[in-house]
Amino acid sequence: MSRPTPKSFHVKSFGCQMNAYDGTRMAELLEAEGMTVADSADEAELIVLNTCHIREKAAEKVYSDIGRIVKKARGSQQPMIAVAGCVAQAEGAEIPRRAPAVDIVVGPQAYHNLARLVADAAEGRRALDTDMPAASKFDALPKRRRQGPSAFLTVQEGCDKFCTYCVVPYTRGAEISRPWAAIIDEAKALIDAGAREITLLGQNVNAWTGEDDKGRLQGLDGLIRVLDGLPGLARIRYTTSHPNDMSDSLIAAHGTVTKLMPFLHLPVQAGSDRVLKAMNRSHDVASYLRLIERVRAARPDIAISGDFIVGFPGETEAEFEETLAVVRAVNHAQAFSFKYSARAGTPAATMEGQIAADVMDDRLQRLQALLNEQQHGFNLATVGTRCEVLIERDGKRPGQRIGKSPWLQSVIVEDGPAIGELVTVDIVAAGPNSMTGAIVAGQRAA
Ligand code: SAH
Ligand code: SF4
Ligand code: F3S
Repeated sequence: MSRPTPKSFHVKSFGCQMNAYDGTRMAELLEAEGMTVADSADEAELIVLNTCHIREKAAEKVYSDIGRIVKKARGSQQPMIAVAGCVAQAEGAEIPRRAPAVDIVVGPQAYHNLARLVADAAEGRRALDTDMPAASKFDALPKRRRQGPSAFLTVQEGCDKFCTYCVVPYTRGAEISRPWAAIIDEAKALIDAGAREITLLGQNVNAWTGEDDKGRLQGLDGLIRVLDGLPGLARIRYTTSHPNDMSDSLIAAHGTVTKLMPFLHLPVQAGSDRVLKAMNRSHDVASYLRLIERVRAARPDIAISGDFIVGFPGETEAEFEETLAVVRAVNHAQAFSFKYSARAGTPAATMEGQIAADVMDDRLQRLQALLNEQQHGFNLATVGTRCEVLIERDGKRPGQRIGKSPWLQSVIVEDGPAIGELVTVDIVAAGPNSMTGAIVAGQRAA
């Protein structure tokens, strides 16, 4: 049965920054097709749910969202629903079987075909594309246009690491690096469109490798150094990194590249060598700690962030305590921690010794208490420092703005600096999750 082609859309992204990037690019693509962003999700004629499959809770969320959309639309025309992202890749045709309201299923490597899929769905044809084509989707996407002060730029996709708990190698496919020139072109377009900060993205972003314009082999630090020379750009960040791909030259870049911000997200996941081995992480605790030491030697004020999983199959209380010990040894500026979630098709899902939910709850609580304490401690330690803040958005009160410090802390300032302005502030107070800054008079030009 055919239906009108949607004229307005709403994209809702879940999961990691790479999904956020993909969501932005899908929106740009739909706009290039003549569709407009709906004022609210309720008014959209097309809703794109850009999903995450990393943990069961995240993956199940899409079905409750679809249920809500269907319920709201009762009596009127239901919007066209597209499921994109990692659940689309993992579950494919199973999605419309379970949720018949879904019109389109499109995987993370196929969304450059979204306009065709919308047209197919409008004509009542089945619209499913979870191919992982050899040709890059990036070449088929429209040029970057609007951009806030802080932009994401995906440079690397996929993962070959196969940690035994993780779905990403299956949902995102094999590790690929985008070409040098394409990345630099996109960075320039983002700067022209208003970006002052660029965060280079990849599931293993520090595994990025490619040839530069002279045919020399480069790593991520090579890209960072070129970006450092782009006029108009003030800040460079990158995420997420794997400990095994942290090269000497990338570590050195933290001490020498002015625009590279003092922040490193470098997940260790667990603090027991036995658990790390069972996770197939291919690094141990001692090598991780040495790495952190070397990064800190290159850039003493660097803020360290990480990811942790508690309750991996077979994890004993003593092994969990080793995770707490690593956390104490590293001292994090911030971190994410999760209860292990068994994912069908991954080796860990069928391992012996699955941990009871209440044990995981208890461990997560203890770990998070420690991490929160460290985050607050890090924030307190920055009180009294003078630093630059990139203003990103309005605060709650008139004249109030919120920006980011070099260490990725949210900083609240008054006196209404413009969004995108880089202001010098004195950090005057610290909370657990945000800082208060006072703009230094005469230091507002950027
Ligand atoms: N490529 C990145 C991020 C992967 S996903 C990396 O390797 O660091 C983000 C985080 O989700 C992971 O670092 C891990 O801590 C967590 N995660 C992945 N699979 C999980 C699972 N099955 N259960 C719980 N947490 C998981
Ligand atoms: Fe998942 Fe491990 Fe790859 Fe990270 S490195 S995406 S945790 S398989
Ligand atoms: Fe989730 Fe896919 Fe990112 S599973 S974490 S959205 S790569």
